[in-house]
Amino acid sequence: MEFKTIIEPFKIHSVAPLQMTTQSQREKYIEEVGYNLFSLHSDNVLIDLLTDSGTGAMSRNQWAAIQHGDESYAGSPSWLMFKDAVQNLFPYKHVIPTHQGRAAEKILFTAIGGKGKVIPSNTHFDTTRANIEYTQAEGVDLVIAEGKDPSSLHPFKGNMDLVALEEFINKTGVANIPVVMMTITNNSGGGQPVSLENLKAVSAICKKYAIPFFLDACRFAENAWFIREREAGQADRDVADIVREIAALADGMTMSAKKDPMGNIGGWLALNDDDLASMCRNLLILTEGFPTYGGLAGRDLEALAVGLTEVISHDYLKYRITSTAYLGKALLKNGIPIVEPTGGHAIYIDAKAMLPHIPPLQYPGQALAVELYKVGGIRGCEIGTVMFGRKPDGSEVASAMELVRLAIPRRTYTQSHIDYVIEVCAEVAAHSQELRGYRIVKEPPALRHFTSEFAPL
Ligand code: F0G
Repeated sequence: MEFKTIIEPFKIHSVAPLQMTTQSQREKYIEEVGYNLFSLHSDNVLIDLLTDSGTGAMSRNQWAAIQHGDESYAGSPSWLMFKDAVQNLFPYKHVIPTHQGRAAEKILFTAIGGKGKVIPSNTHFDTTRANIEYTQAEGVDLVIAEGKDPSSLHPFKGNMDLVALEEFINKTGVANIPVVMMTITNNSGGGQPVSLENLKAVSAICKKYAIPFFLDACRFAENAWFIREREAGQADRDVADIVREIAALADGMTMSAKKDPMGNIGGWLALNDDDLASMCRNLLILTEGFPTYGGLAGRDLEALAVGLTEVISHDYLKYRITSTAYLGKALLKNGIPIVEPTGGHAIYIDAKAMLPHIPPLQYPGQALAVELYKVGGIRGCEIGTVMFGRKPDGSEVASAMELVRLAIPRRTYTQSHIDYVIEVCAEVAAHSQELRGYRIVKEPPALRHFTSEFAPL
């Protein structure tokens, strides 16, 4: 008999207390930090859905691995365990450990970026784009049209627009394209997966033009699960098998091990090309560390080696993807518009649709995120005009979408925490017409969402 309740496939082994606060306390805390949720003391946040990055709970086997870690500077057994675990899923010749994903990006683009170079992706994550642009290269997003429509029900909204990719290659010239990237799942596009068919097609295009193909694979296991669930002919496959097939389509990868590898810190760059790997290792030594630990301690490497074996468990992935969908479905039932279909690691509330009376330049996403904190102590993240609106020439342009991301840390919150989140969202929706926009009173020159201060209108 298969029961309809999908339970957390773990029991709680160690707990951290949540500090209860009242609405009037939270109104004071958020006012004190200029209505910027990044500036809150996390003790004053009840349910923290700011990110799924590095915020998950490790297993007892991972904690045991932490104790087992060996801190030899060079050639530690912990390094070999890590390398084997990575290559078991991603059999690239060279594995280069870094302290997190953006360090891998920085090294890769320092090696292959530069003025005149253009790097296409389905959608670059913001640190990826920033690292590309820092070398004076350019990042281009070529996700399919459905990927930009919050209400489209396409099963693989992270797919690359293949026609646009080929047109782009012909227009830009192969010599100016050092790599084609694919972000799986597509975080900036709503945590939406990429199909195996699309990955194969991108790989074939890259082969045809002899352009290297790299994955930004932070949420590879969630993406593979969606392939198993949604793509014809994949339902009986082992997720590990799907992951290996994806890996074989590409020439290398960047990784933030703070996501699917279940770490609190970590990342890597992996690739087949010997010359490029040697260049990257030299850069690694400059900024991260010796090639057998990168930016990490031996204990971190071991915890990640174990995490990589846990994340590909079907029981885990079924629970993970179902519980994200559970939150999404409940919000829809309460009339709250979200990006559909629900993705892997987060639910994205469509603040533009929910607060049509607040114009984009009065930051509806920020207004909603602040209200969720005031009413229920929930911390989400605005992904809209606050994050993307300021252009390099100083102008301010409304973002295409005004979203609030509720990212779900792995194995951290139970269903009753999520039921509470649903209740708070419904309460905010019930008085959404009363919400007012914000103006920015203090703004840094770049990445303004992290430190800007706001005032209510
Ligand atoms: N690529 C993707 C798709 C990401 O989502 C992230 C981080 C990175 C690269 C960079 O990795 O943080 O380890 O340096 N995303 C986090 C988030 C920060 O909240 O979505 P990092």
